[in-house]
Amino acid sequence: MPNIVVIGAQWGDEGKGKVVDLLAPCVDVVVRYQGGNNAGHTVVVGKDKFVLQTIPAGILHAGCRCVIGCGVVVDPSSLIEEMESLVQRGVSLDGNLYISKNAHLIMPYHPALDRASESKAGRRRIGTTGKGVGPAYADKAARIGIRMADLLDERLFREKLEANVFQKNRLLREIYDAETFTVDGILGPYLRYAGWLAPYITDTALLLSRWIDAGASVLFEGAQGTMLDIDHGTYPFITSSSTTAGGASTGTGVPPTKINGIVGIAKAYCTRVGGGPFPTELGGEIADLLRARGNEYGAVTGRPRRCGWVDVIGLRYAARINGFDTIALTKLDVLDTCETVKICVGYRYKGEVLTDFPEEERIWHEAEPVYEEMSGWQTTTHRLRDYAALPAKAREYLDHLSELIGVPFSIVSTGAARDETILVQDSALARWFPALRGLLPAH
Ligand code: GDP
Ligand code: IMO
Ligand code: MG
Repeated sequence: MPNIVVIGAQWGDEGKGKVVDLLAPCVDVVVRYQGGNNAGHTVVVGKDKFVLQTIPAGILHAGCRCVIGCGVVVDPSSLIEEMESLVQRGVSLDGNLYISKNAHLIMPYHPALDRASESKAGRRRIGTTGKGVGPAYADKAARIGIRMADLLDERLFREKLEANVFQKNRLLREIYDAETFTVDGILGPYLRYAGWLAPYITDTALLLSRWIDAGASVLFEGAQGTMLDIDHGTYPFITSSSTTAGGASTGTGVPPTKINGIVGIAKAYCTRVGGGPFPTELGGEIADLLRARGNEYGAVTGRPRRCGWVDVIGLRYAARINGFDTIALTKLDVLDTCETVKICVGYRYKGEVLTDFPEEERIWHEAEPVYEEMSGWQTTTHRLRDYAALPAKAREYLDHLSELIGVPFSIVSTGAARDETILVQDSALARWFPALRGLLPAH
């Protein structure tokens, strides 16, 4: 049974939630391996819309085991709220949710530090989600983080908390002139969370290993996207975790030798939320059109997303860093009304045209995109489920894009709902998951 990783190929919000929900009935386990409640993964089921933040998007399928891996940072209050909201909406969390003992906790001082440092950053503000994800990963790397397992050991938890509150209060007060915390003010609520979460906290690396040995199929659900990766993204305008393929292994304890394939998720155009360079960013009418048709507003913060044309230089880079076997291309329908569509095939910088994604921050900011322009199809693709039924010009666009990236497409998404999806017959996803053909029949 294949173990497959799903990864955002751009700056996040590519439609990972939709794709994970589609694949979940074909696997036994879905595991999140990085990020925290900065993620917002939308799943549309009929008239219902779910936005998952820390819980894997497989949770909507009874029988699918969902794991929050060791690479995730967990805000327990936000997680409990998410769990309660799912239960209220009829989703069962009985025996199908597992949280790694090694996952780090987001503590109340983390969002405070996140907001305080952003408020002082001026022009170089990252535009974080304000959830405390960066400061929580900073503590993890500094070896002063507090982990899920510590929640279950009151004495150890208090000891670690005291040291942290002492240090964070000095930072908050003296560097940021911000409000401080007390140990007791945090201890009470966190011990209550511990009581709530204790039944779910376990050695998930061991469980995953046993399940895989017994023949289970695991889907790794990436959060954010390649360009937000701490090592490979547009540093420092990134998130603080390993969003790329390697993170799937370190963030779960499943060795790379047990991973069988990597799927990139990319939009037919491109968006970014927050600050930082975005070579193909558009202003004016076309950006407004993409934002309105694509409903490009942050699932977590509600912020309008910046919009631009698809960037082959970035996507080829994502394919190289992650080793994509295939791509699921989403939101084709959003381009339906465009007279022409553009594809960025180079970055012009100081008279030269670069075709490999550069590593210099200055170039990301200053490069001018070089475009190929294709005529639009100007007819609806919304809800289409058959590749052959797509307008010829849409197929030309898809075929050309796939060829430029050098990676075949497995899925073309034509709407937010589950069945608004084209499965490319004889694609990697159709081969890995034969049941998909039944779930996504062409009409
Ligand atoms: P994620 O973070 O990668 O899971 O993506 P988000 O959920 O943040 O953003 C993707 C948005 O696009 C969500 O509102 C989805 O419901 C929606 N969506 C996904 N695929 C399609 C598609 O093919 N067409 C349209 N119009 N919307 C889509
Ligand atoms: P999903 O999983 C899009 C962005 C923020 C900011 C930067 C750092 O839904 O695709 P952070 O709060 O992580 O320290 O913010 O990363 N960002 C996302 N952008 N989708 C996401 O998640 C994101 N998670 C973080 O906007 O620019
Ligand atoms: Mg999102």
